[in-house]
Amino acid sequence: MTILDQLAEIERDITASVSAAPAEADLEAIRIAELGKKGRISLLMRELGTMPPEERLRAGPVLNGLKDRVATAISARRQALEVETMNRRLENEREDLTLAHRQEFQGALHPVMQVFEEIAAIFADMGFSVAEGPDIEDDFHNFTALNFPVGHPAREMHDTFFLRPAADGSRKVLRTHTSPVQIRTMMSAPPPIRIIAPGRVYRKDWDATHTPMFHQVEGLVIDKTAHMGHLKQCLTDFCARFFEVERAETRLRPHFFPFTEPSAEMDVRCDRSGGEIRVGVGSDWLEILGCGMVHPNVLRQCGLDPEEVQGFAFGMGVDRLAMLKYGMPDLRPYFEADVDWIRHYGFRPWLIPTVTGGLS
Ligand code: DAH
Repeated sequence: MTILDQLAEIERDITASVSAAPAEADLEAIRIAELGKKGRISLLMRELGTMPPEERLRAGPVLNGLKDRVATAISARRQALEVETMNRRLENEREDLTLAHRQEFQGALHPVMQVFEEIAAIFADMGFSVAEGPDIEDDFHNFTALNFPVGHPAREMHDTFFLRPAADGSRKVLRTHTSPVQIRTMMSAPPPIRIIAPGRVYRKDWDATHTPMFHQVEGLVIDKTAHMGHLKQCLTDFCARFFEVERAETRLRPHFFPFTEPSAEMDVRCDRSGGEIRVGVGSDWLEILGCGMVHPNVLRQCGLDPEEVQGFAFGMGVDRLAMLKYGMPDLRPYFEADVDWIRHYGFRPWLIPTVTGGLS
């Protein structure tokens, strides 16, 4: 048999075993046996040196070609095996994603979260973005910058939870309202500002309508011209949309907050005669939020010039808004993790409220 015949036979032999190799390990064994230092092809390569020049001239390129073809065949087979392995894994690890939908309705969105989403959708539609701040606040942001001077009796309006004093004697607090986010926002970016700040707040209180942790949404608008008229219309539109009625009627009652001047509470016209509250009609009034024009001292604390910019702010209790809208009589079950309660009052989590597509 000539060397060329021999090579053709070797090639057939190798190609057959490569394409039959059942796994990557077998392929690697073939590679070592044929192309490795002591492999069949390497040994033949070495033999080239001992051949007569004429034969070497013919066998050399053939041998090199063989070597290349074998290497290519092995890497092609390796790729094919990888694909096979991956396909087998994909087949075995297949998850039936339709399963959850066939199960009984289990989890539900808490009404407070639902109402947060609804409020955010309404204000987003009016061009507000969402801002956030920490639950653990310092005295400056929670009080001082909001025009509650140290020792001022207005601080006692909030039954504050204090953390242990730090080495320098300062004490952080669990924020008593979301108003500190106003300060953080004004100190971090120049006007115009149009934000809402939803979040948890904390006060020492516990009865049917008060829990030590509850939820507020703060609002802040700062520019050169925003005035009480804007405030009233903005919040009246909010009421109509939130309570999902054509028209809402509101009134502002004078009130006191240290951080706004003038300050007011806003009531919305409602009817309580039928046991449940209907907004937009009737002869009763329902208090729904606090608001006012941002106090010049607050603007100054944030490095803004009250001669240059002005604006309004508002704050509302989300838990109470949820109670009013969805007819929940007691606040305490909100935080009792009672499965029956959440089944009754909860919302489907995948139905995201939108102004155009429907809120609730
Ligand atoms: N921070 C007030 C509270 O917790 C609520 C509030 C009232 C916020 C008036 C405001 C506002 O921004 O203008 O009682």
